[in-house]
Amino acid sequence: MTVGVKPEKPLVRVADAQSVETALTSRYSVRAFVPTPVPRPLIQRLLELASSAPSGTNIQPWQVYVVTGGARDRLCERVCAAHERRYQQGAQADSLTPDYVYYPTDWPAKNLARRRENGWGLYGLLGIQKGEKDKMHRQAQQNYRLFEAPVGIFVTIDRRMGQGAILESGMFLQALMTAARAHGLHSCPQAAWNDFAPLVRECIGATDEEILVCGLALGYIDASQKINAFDAGRVPLEEFVVWCED
Ligand SMILES: Cc1cc2nc3c(=O)[nH]c(=O)nc-3n(C[C@H](O)[C@H](O)[C@H](O)COP(=O)(O)O)c2cc1C
Repeated sequence: MTVGVKPEKPLVRVADAQSVETALTSRYSVRAFVPTPVPRPLIQRLLELASSAPSGTNIQPWQVYVVTGGARDRLCERVCAAHERRYQQGAQADSLTPDYVYYPTDWPAKNLARRRENGWGLYGLLGIQKGEKDKMHRQAQQNYRLFEAPVGIFVTIDRRMGQGAILESGMFLQALMTAARAHGLHSCPQAAWNDFAPLVRECIGATDEEILVCGLALGYIDASQKINAFDAGRVPLEEFVVWCED
């Protein structure tokens, strides 16, 4: 790493704001991919672009595992099997726990309402009714097949890092997903892998000194799948912005 001066930087302007906006707004969570491989130089480029994400005092806490080919298939197979066992046998099936608390147990009402709307909206689109547990389980398992994407990206941080490193990893991932759009790729961030974190770490070769922050499916969209028509929507600004002026 070279620390230095970039004289041209203050002069650089984004000439085409629309492209940036399109990259941002065309990103959404794609949950069905075609198996078309993503060339390694392209993955490398996306990771370079993502690494332009900021981090407090430039600590760049992200450690990234790119999982493709046979390694991808073995990971999916092992985690799917663990997911299946847990479904059949319940909590006693294994002792795998997430590396950090992602979702609360005591939910703020408005966030829980949005979470439920999202879940039922997605299931509704797939024709899955309340109580159809097997169908829900099968859909959830798609996570552990990377939604058929050929590339899995796993971000870890050193266990000693503070919560800021999780925030910074999120910035890295957002940059990666935006860069992916610029190159015709889609993605889905996946906290689902966290439920099997120790197994994922073993499969990707991460150590126990690392925390699995998040997985990400990356590839080319299968536009023929109706799940990809799902629009999660957003609440309007009035619901989350406070203007402190006078
Ligand atoms: C950190 C993170 C983890 C997520 N984990 C999952 C996941 O495990 N499985 C999944 O299908 N979607 C997952 N999502 C996608 C969200 O459900 C999605 O971002 C949200 O509903 C908004 O929809 P959009 O991404 O299509 O705009 C995750 C998103 C984020 C940011």
